[in-house]
Amino acid sequence: MSGNEIRAAYLKFMEERGHTIVPSSALVPENDPTTLFTGSGMQPLMPFLMGEPHPKGTRVVDSQKCFRAEDIEEVGDNRHTTFFEMLGNWSFGDYFKEEQLTWFYSFLTDTVGLDPERLYVTVFQGDEEHDLPRDTDSVAIWQRLFDEKGVSNEVADIGSEAAGGKRGINDGERIFYYDAKKNWWSRAGKPANMPVGEPGGPDSEMFYDFGIEHNPKFGTYCHPNCDCGRFMEIGNSVFMEYLKTENGFKKLPKQNVDFGGGLERIVAASLHSTNGVNDVFKTDLFAPTMAALEQLSGKTYTDNLLAFRVIADHLRGAVFMIGDGILPGNTEQGYFVRRLIRRAVRYADMLGVPEGNFAHIADSVINLYHAQYPNLKETCNDIKTAIEKEEAQFRKTLTRGLAEFEKIAQGGAVTGTDAFVLFTTYGFPYELTEELATERNLSVDRKEFEAQMAEHQEKSRLGAEQKFKGGLADNSEKVLQYHTTTHLLLAALREILGNHVHQAGSNITGERLRFDFTHPEKVERETLDRIETWVNNAITVGGDVTITPMSKVAAESDPTVEGSFWDRYPDEVNVYQVTGNDGTIFSKELCGGPHVGALGDIRGTFKITKEESSSAGVRRIKAVLE
Ligand code: ALA
Repeated sequence: MSGNEIRAAYLKFMEERGHTIVPSSALVPENDPTTLFTGSGMQPLMPFLMGEPHPKGTRVVDSQKCFRAEDIEEVGDNRHTTFFEMLGNWSFGDYFKEEQLTWFYSFLTDTVGLDPERLYVTVFQGDEEHDLPRDTDSVAIWQRLFDEKGVSNEVADIGSEAAGGKRGINDGERIFYYDAKKNWWSRAGKPANMPVGEPGGPDSEMFYDFGIEHNPKFGTYCHPNCDCGRFMEIGNSVFMEYLKTENGFKKLPKQNVDFGGGLERIVAASLHSTNGVNDVFKTDLFAPTMAALEQLSGKTYTDNLLAFRVIADHLRGAVFMIGDGILPGNTEQGYFVRRLIRRAVRYADMLGVPEGNFAHIADSVINLYHAQYPNLKETCNDIKTAIEKEEAQFRKTLTRGLAEFEKIAQGGAVTGTDAFVLFTTYGFPYELTEELATERNLSVDRKEFEAQMAEHQEKSRLGAEQKFKGGLADNSEKVLQYHTTTHLLLAALREILGNHVHQAGSNITGERLRFDFTHPEKVERETLDRIETWVNNAITVGGDVTITPMSKVAAESDPTVEGSFWDRYPDEVNVYQVTGNDGTIFSKELCGGPHVGALGDIRGTFKITKEESSSAGVRRIKAVLE
């Protein structure tokens, strides 16, 4: 089955089991300050896992665009990609382990046709320190399912990875207990790393066995999590039923299921089951790009695995990012798009791909995906122009930059200052310099580089890197306050500047809000003061925040409902209304939440700290609650 067929089959399979298909959210989370990118299907659905009612009910299914920046360096093996599609089905307090594991197994074996002999699973062994029990329920379900297919179903205790390294797999074993490092899922990782207020739960992962020989570089023995490439994880069923509190783990009010399956990897498993190929990059999802690269370079994929994989992965990622409005740049998300394209340029240069062909490759990606993601078609020209421009810009300095790097490397060391010069003069992202250095067994002093950059007034980018690494913001309550304040701000802008004002973007942390809106000119300080007063008045009057589910058609045609990005919402939506204690409707807006329950929960005085241009026809406001 092709990638497009497997995605469609999965959505249909779940639809037949009571799920409503909902569209993918954007790659940049709207109101989630915890991360720069959407890296899993559950992030945009957090409010519903925490108990807010989903407008489509308790069962939904989707294919979510994801980007995992931390995997950039992993790209090069047979299975890692930075961008991927995560197939997801959710139970919001509806079905649980029995249905989830049965359906997923049936989808893989009956619908996709994977060989049951090649499927292995892992389960949570429990965590005494946090008083979390062993997941014997899932084991019993798996034993029955495997038995029904006539394959072995023995259980083994792998425990920690270290233990796995001592033991490996015995004949007949198919179900493996691992510790919380492997079989517990939350946005922050294992139980010990979770902040108070974060939900999580035990999970059960499914692995496909490519049957290749173990690579001892990854440990003495082979086991599902040894990472040698024999086993490939293709899906993860998370049983989200716990909440971390000040006094340890408590059960959430409802048991949820968060399932995530890697589409590209399921396609690769399907390809292997039919003709023995064990490579994600050989699936139809990458075929047009690989064919174009072979033709343009006159070289073969087989002889140039790393270069082909990097280019194919990175350009696909860049296409989807730009399609979601992220242009190459030096800060935050834009920096990653820049890194992707520039790293692809370097490998294309090595392969001898002539300059000026990236837009053509982008086209082949868009053609493959636009039926599922119509925004790619709409933004097709923007995508190609941006990629073309970034390629041309970097090609200009690449040759001279590489020569400069060679000269530096001859000296036997690459200093932070060298990396700084390579970045500012030749446009080499730091990580590219580091990669070139690593290839020559040299290291780079990142601290020194960062110090130079800070001096160079590039603090914003470094800040972004720290934010990216730092994981969860710990003060999610403050984030909710800022989110509701953002609704008040938009209402004030529309009241005072006019109804041409709509949201163009939003980014919220526990320290500030940043809001982009459509408006043709600078907003004077005097007007900003009036906007502040409007918002502060609403906070002082106080009132409630209520949620009304309604059909998207109804919401969109109601002139009192403000909204942007309608195409990112399913056909049933939530409208958040802020009603003042004096009866005034302060704000009525399409939104996915979450918000504070009442204006009284907002602490502090609203203050606009900055107003500036964001892009043509779009202004940006930064504001705080002091
Ligand atoms: N949220 C789970 C994951 O990303 C499904 O693995």
